[in-house]
Amino acid sequence: PAEDGHALWLRYKPCGKANIIAPQGGATLQTAVDELKRYWQGSELKLILNPRLKDDDGFLYNGDSICSHSELGLLYGAYEALRLQAQEAYPRLGGYTAPKFSRRILNHWDNLDGTIECGYAGKSIFFSANLKGQEWAGRIREYGRANASVGINGSVLNNVNTSPKVLTTQYIDTVCTIANILRPYGIKVYLSVNFGSPKALGYTKTADPLDETVKKWWKKKADEIYQRIPDFGGFLVKANAEGQPGPFDYGRTHAEGANMLADVLALHGGIVMWRSSVYGAKHKGEDRVMQAVSEFKDLDGLFKSNVILQSKNGPLDFQPREPYAPIFDNMKKTQQAVEFQITQEYTGQGKHLVFLAPMWKEFFSFVAPDSLKAIAGVSNIGDDINWCGHPFSQANWYAFGRLAWNPSFSSDFIAQEWIGQTFGNEVNSYILADMMTTSREACVDYMMPLGLHHLFASQHHYGPEADGVKAEYPLEWCPIPYHKAAADGIGFDRSSKGTNAVSQYREPYRSLYDNLATCPDEYLLWFHHVPWDYKLHNGDMLWDELCALYYRGIEQVVSYQKLWNELRPQIDQERWEHVNRLLALQLENAKECRDYVLRYFQQFSKMPLKYNFTGVS
Ligand code: GCU
Repeated sequence: PAEDGHALWLRYKPCGKANIIAPQGGATLQTAVDELKRYWQGSELKLILNPRLKDDDGFLYNGDSICSHSELGLLYGAYEALRLQAQEAYPRLGGYTAPKFSRRILNHWDNLDGTIECGYAGKSIFFSANLKGQEWAGRIREYGRANASVGINGSVLNNVNTSPKVLTTQYIDTVCTIANILRPYGIKVYLSVNFGSPKALGYTKTADPLDETVKKWWKKKADEIYQRIPDFGGFLVKANAEGQPGPFDYGRTHAEGANMLADVLALHGGIVMWRSSVYGAKHKGEDRVMQAVSEFKDLDGLFKSNVILQSKNGPLDFQPREPYAPIFDNMKKTQQAVEFQITQEYTGQGKHLVFLAPMWKEFFSFVAPDSLKAIAGVSNIGDDINWCGHPFSQANWYAFGRLAWNPSFSSDFIAQEWIGQTFGNEVNSYILADMMTTSREACVDYMMPLGLHHLFASQHHYGPEADGVKAEYPLEWCPIPYHKAAADGIGFDRSSKGTNAVSQYREPYRSLYDNLATCPDEYLLWFHHVPWDYKLHNGDMLWDELCALYYRGIEQVVSYQKLWNELRPQIDQERWEHVNRLLALQLENAKECRDYVLRYFQQFSKMPLKYNFTGVS
């Protein structure tokens, strides 16, 4: 039922029999007690605040008691107890558990008019007029609860492409109300700010970060925010990227821009998350995947201690598969955060079943979680009744939280946890988890295998278009398109003979990717331009393998349909039908990708469509 979708993975059955023994405390502790009183099925559970435990919001849960240094740790422990109660698939060992990253933040790309950039599940829960009064506050409370249940502890409420108006008193009022609702759940609010704000709002003649009137304005603004929201998290900034204003406009560096904001926030304990995913400004015309390192490398060590450099997992833009972003190898003295995209901009949006945990795990196989200070995820949440559009997109929100807590959880483990809580223990979670954990690779196969990237329709990025980027980006920003298909072959030469993007990687990856003989097939066309009849590591010819992979992706989706059919008796009709309809659409789209992309490339390869065809038309 629709309400079920609304309940996300929090479908605990009210019980109300438990005796919860807890010390006196604040709103967060009270929230933990209330949740357990309502849903804990055991007879008694003790909550213990223990100042000798580490002050990291971790907890110790042993079946009868939850111990933590902090109230928030007890709340996290309460949700762990309820999670274990709700799903049986994986038994859990006890012991102290604590979050790996101290800041686990959702980035909402919500606009002040209520629309959401790359949102596929309705309007903003924060800024749209759809929800009003109590209903609005209630929805935000549920949002806080869902986040706390997976340990997310921060929310940037608005889009990185933001209107300066978010800093006007009217919006600060709204942000303050939201912060008050989220506080008991341990969630701090942050805002994206437009670097040009003081000038754009008419207070100063310039937005030059070294200008005294500009500094004063930001200081006053920060004071105003902190007066209302004492635990405000800080600012997220997209500067000098895709046409946004920034310090370059005044001949200043990213460090000068970030540090000016860092200074005014430091007085209140706030931070600046400065995005490195920039292109089209200072290094115009350079290979886009190199521009972040080119702009930031020399600034390593120059950022204030409350600045975190936030970078997308890959150097381009949340493609189905990218190599990791080399900025993580280059900034040795700078605190860094990774930005994942939970919303499926390039992975089927709200329509395809694509579980992203394997993609994020892949990133962590290249970049050690220990080297990162924070983790951010671009949210897929809107005001739709089921929050995320596709019922399985909820799993990506869930997985982000779980990996932010512990990046060594396996994708299968997270999928099974989510399934048990979302569909109940009657469902065959092994089959479902298998669908989920293979779905990202299937998406790569039917969209862009072998290192191909950005073959997406312009602007909306749904569906294939070989030269979509041409319509979208000014040519001067970077060389486009990226596939470089021609009679002589396909792929973007980023080796030392090409743009030399490989030089930005640490060893052994630099040599591994540079050398055609050792470059893994899944990154081949990202780093190399090769002839159509090039022989891959598996011995197959490039063109044939390209065809085979598109078919393999499609076959996977067909297999999901079959499995979903088998699961029909175990799943409520409404969710079953919803997902079934979406899987049919996913299959249709996958075929559309194959047909479009292969036909487009065939003009250059002039080769027949040869593939392991096993009956999928
Ligand atoms: C992508 C996306 C934009 C977004 C940008 C960013 O290009 O399509 O909508 O603004 O990334 O991350 O800044």
